[in-house]
Amino acid sequence: MTAKIIDGKAIAKKLRAEYHARVEVLRSRYNVTPALAVILVGDNPASQSYVRNKIAGCKEVGIRSELVELPASTTEEQLLDHIERLNNDVTVHGILVQLPLPAHIRVPSVIEKISVEKDVDGFHLYNMGGLVTGNTVFSPCTPYGVQKILEHENIRVEGQNVVVVGASNIVGKPTALMLMQQDATVVICHKKTRDLGHFTLLADILVVAAGVPNLIVPQIVKTGAVVIDVGFNRLPDGRIVGDVDFEGVKEKASYITPVPGGVGQMTVTMLLHNTILSAERAATATTSPFRRRA
Ligand code: GUN
Repeated sequence: MTAKIIDGKAIAKKLRAEYHARVEVLRSRYNVTPALAVILVGDNPASQSYVRNKIAGCKEVGIRSELVELPASTTEEQLLDHIERLNNDVTVHGILVQLPLPAHIRVPSVIEKISVEKDVDGFHLYNMGGLVTGNTVFSPCTPYGVQKILEHENIRVEGQNVVVVGASNIVGKPTALMLMQQDATVVICHKKTRDLGHFTLLADILVVAAGVPNLIVPQIVKTGAVVIDVGFNRLPDGRIVGDVDFEGVKEKASYITPVPGGVGQMTVTMLLHNTILSAERAATATTSPFRRRA
């Protein structure tokens, strides 16, 4: 069997065209331009590159972006003050603090400071808790991107065995909760899992977000499985690869996402979606968005 290679770039392009149209409606009907504030602390080159991508994505669909660049010496209090200002700015619909932060700043304090209704990353405890009960204000972007890919390819989730490899707060745990909400049978594996293959061989849908190149080889993939590779690793020779042995596994899977060109394209796209959704809620709000579903 040779897998269908899922073109994340094409899916993202199609969705971005739809989002662009939603921005136009907000402009013409409500005179509202969606806006995303991005806070970048320090000069981590990878973070700078991610932020550039997010800002370019905003431009593409007509979202106004506001970049707040702060030195690595910024105190936690100063950062919280910036967030407070943005929380109170009605022209800003989404706030994102790029992670990682310098070691002297406590990430949980920063994330909890962001207003839930502007937490377009979906990292706030309220949003995380909502994943357990099935009613988040914003879905976290990478898991949401995975969900959209499955939807786009008409891949049924209900009743399927899903194995998620990686238990991070940003990807593994929320992906597992979102797919469980769709009535999949979900297992999470992580770095202390013994005999990984024992679990992955059961997967109809295998989502891998471990940050380990070549972790998933064909021998531990079920024939016909859907393989979603969230890994993004830079090899010493500069090549970018995922966590899956793509060449080997594509001969065994039914669908597979490449790296680059798969899930990565979708993460920023979902951030754009959440920012537009936030602006739509603000433009049409008569009550708090807290109890509404996306
Ligand atoms: N650092 C790596 N991924 C992310 C992300 O999705 N959001 C933020 N804010 N920081 C990140």
